[in-house]
Amino acid sequence: MLAAKTFFETPLEQLTPRMEEDFFTSLMTRNKTYKTTFHDRFSDINPYLLDYLLHHSPSAPKALDVGVSSGISTVELYDDLRQGGLEVEIVGTDILVDAFLVKVFPRCHALVEPSGFPLRFDLPLVTMKPWVTRRDYYSGFFILRKFVNTLFTHRAHQILRNPGDARISEVKLVAPRVLAKAGISVCTDDISRYNNTFEARFDFVRAANVLNQGYFPPTVLSTMIANIGRYLRKPHGSLFVVRTHENRANHGTLFRRGDGQHFEAVHRFGSGSEIEDVVLRVEMPAE
Ligand SMILES: C[S@@+](CC[C@H](N)C(=O)[O-])C[C@H]1O[C@@H](n2cnc3c(N)ncnc32)[C@H](O)[C@@H]1O
Repeated sequence: MLAAKTFFETPLEQLTPRMEEDFFTSLMTRNKTYKTTFHDRFSDINPYLLDYLLHHSPSAPKALDVGVSSGISTVELYDDLRQGGLEVEIVGTDILVDAFLVKVFPRCHALVEPSGFPLRFDLPLVTMKPWVTRRDYYSGFFILRKFVNTLFTHRAHQILRNPGDARISEVKLVAPRVLAKAGISVCTDDISRYNNTFEARFDFVRAANVLNQGYFPPTVLSTMIANIGRYLRKPHGSLFVVRTHENRANHGTLFRRGDGQHFEAVHRFGSGSEIEDVVLRVEMPAE
């Protein structure tokens, strides 16, 4: 596993796809969702989306990608759509974009959310996830992990009380090459909270590996989908919901916003989205 400090200090041109995957996949956020992501995740689906958008959206569509994590798959969508002739611009959002890398002891760092929730601990020779795994209980490693977690988190909280402390570095939990793309902007946003600056702004929304049954109860998923529905332009706006399974197969559904109060399913990939029934039931405001 790559140390957090090493990741943030590696120049853009030396960061390999493997390093990006390795780093982001090992982060679990405070709301217990993972930043898991990998390259070419949607290479089977992007050609269909391109074809669909070429026929059903303006030539310079505005897209919203929610729950982008590192933004690796956002760049891939952007490149695929641009190469296919769409002058797309993408806004990528995530509940967790900004974080702090805090030097807690000499040669030791804690990567924490703005709330202080720990994401990773770097020690001089190893880097460590904060949470205890079942294997740790068999090996006894949980004692060390809990000790480091308590010590590093407490120290990080102490240091963060003084925002001007030189031991604090502000970092973005997004792959640097995403931030370097002119047509992509990334910002913090919680899908479960309605954002009025997004109202009717987008021709296409993608929710990849975030609107999962295992992450949120149906009521929260319904709220999230209703919010997204209001961000889409009528009637052509479309929503793509997908989940990648352990064997890397994608199961998703493309929905159309239409003029009415409900989404309509347009196309299924694999067995379709696991939350297709939830999406179809959501009622959006008449106006
Ligand atoms: C598994 S990653 C998906 C990454 C990318 N979309 C992909 O498929 O490769 C899930 C992301 O959703 C984000 N997330 C979880 N809850 C969220 C919420 N309520 N609002 C916005 N993003 C959220 C997490 O922070 C995480 O980065």
